[in-house]
Amino acid sequence: MKNKWWKNAVIYQIYPKSFKDSNNDGIGDINGIRSKLPYLKELGIDAIWISPIYKSPQIDNGYDISDYYSIDPMFGSIDEMKHLIKEAHNLNIKIIMDFVANHTSEEAFWFRESCKSKDNYYSDFYIWKDPKDNGEAPNNWGSNFGGSAWEWNEQRQQYYLHYYAKEQPDLNWENPNVREEIYKMMTFWHELGIDGWRMDVITSISKNLKFPDNENPLTTENQQNGPRMHEFIHEINQKVLKPLNMMSVGEAPAAKSSDAFLLVDPKREELDMIFTFEHMHIDREKNNINGRWAIKKPDIVQLKQIMSSWQNNLSQKGWNALYFENHDRARVISRWGNDKKYRYECATAFATILHGMQGTPYIYQGEEIGMTNPEYSLDEYKDIELKGNYEHYVQERKSISKSNFLDAVHKVSRDNARTPMQWSEDKFSGFSDTEPWFKINPNYKQINVEADRRSDKSIFYYYKSLIDIRHNNNILRDGSFKLLLPEHPFIFAYKRYYHGETWYIVANLSENKQDFNNILPSKYVKLIHNYKSEIDIKTLKPYESFIIKESN
Ligand code: NOJ
Repeated sequence: MKNKWWKNAVIYQIYPKSFKDSNNDGIGDINGIRSKLPYLKELGIDAIWISPIYKSPQIDNGYDISDYYSIDPMFGSIDEMKHLIKEAHNLNIKIIMDFVANHTSEEAFWFRESCKSKDNYYSDFYIWKDPKDNGEAPNNWGSNFGGSAWEWNEQRQQYYLHYYAKEQPDLNWENPNVREEIYKMMTFWHELGIDGWRMDVITSISKNLKFPDNENPLTTENQQNGPRMHEFIHEINQKVLKPLNMMSVGEAPAAKSSDAFLLVDPKREELDMIFTFEHMHIDREKNNINGRWAIKKPDIVQLKQIMSSWQNNLSQKGWNALYFENHDRARVISRWGNDKKYRYECATAFATILHGMQGTPYIYQGEEIGMTNPEYSLDEYKDIELKGNYEHYVQERKSISKSNFLDAVHKVSRDNARTPMQWSEDKFSGFSDTEPWFKINPNYKQINVEADRRSDKSIFYYYKSLIDIRHNNNILRDGSFKLLLPEHPFIFAYKRYYHGETWYIVANLSENKQDFNNILPSKYVKLIHNYKSEIDIKTLKPYESFIIKESN
């Protein structure tokens, strides 16, 4: 397999609304990103993925696009975007944009036209169905934000399908004109200079056109991985990704490690890598009526099993995208770890585990300084998913109490990762000079970029070292993987080996001391360690972690 740039890369995700505000309207923007390029360069990352900045009514923070060809004025302009691309490229940083083409905003021109009649050019750009004889929605499919996935449209006298908010109608990929429009849009951004795409819910673009009810209404079994999914993705590859040499990472909620290669096997020419959801469900009750709000203690044994099965199953047949955080996930140290007493140790332990694996690691803004979940009251949150789910589960179904829902929100809601970036201890955390669109985590006086980089326990500099190690050692890119101590409830340890060299990557994911069998070599070179003391090869301190290389 030829080495592509993204195999050596570490990618940094920016959620633009909350990254850096340059014009003091309380909302992050493109010029804010530009001003922080030197910061990102210092961290050592190779590319940035920017969540949507296109024109949008912002029902779902930009994942509802009304015009694929323009930048939303709140973020800046096309000219500013061109400057950003140029300045990033001058620093050898590539730009990845979000490709949101399972759905558009209801305000998109295509949708407005589609509503008008059943026989214009745009009529079949979306998925329209007649009601059942009794007037009800065509089937029992549910929206990810709560309630039915069907919405009645008065103007057209039909239901349309929306997997997310009713303001986000799903596009009809069966229509070749839709696909051509999307390829045209992708080409436009390529011409502007972008290098790749993160593809939002790409496994949903093909629907089951028989529209059967989901047998288990708690699942979305018929709503993703539709019969033409691979065909459509292969076509995107052939028409755009391959000829224009653009990198792709697909969001694949339902992919399993056993079938993921169908999406990422280079021979099949579909995607370069995918984001799996499997490992992010280790703290969720299975098949619970309350969905993602039915939380439980994280199962570290399961985490190890899942992550190693992705390592093993894709090792010869594809490539992994490695992540714990993004704009839809809570802060991992607050969710699965200890974000108080062991904040530094815990953040660096999770980082070590992730960055030692094969694949492309993604760092989500703020993860590199150990930002934490805020614990706000319900009315302080903004996310449409949270609000929709509150109505659905707490108010309508009454299947979860308000206080249990709030506990789950504090652990796993998407807004946990969306608070403004904490740059300094200045007013408004150095993010803006005015009150931001979303409340800043009150801990910004202690947790911020400046304080972190001054500290002798700097998470930022630990990440920087991890990135350097990855850039300088092919073993992390190409080496084989073997999980050690698979049954141990707290120690996550594995080895990587390549051309006679063996590395051990070890972390104690608990706040107690852990003793373990002698799995480590007595002679080694230490590459990175999150404690100042010597390594003890038989005992790990709370959240202790390191990478060592066996020596003779
Ligand atoms: C996945 C995105 O990451 C999420 O933020 C968004 O709400 C949905 N897809 C819908 O676009």
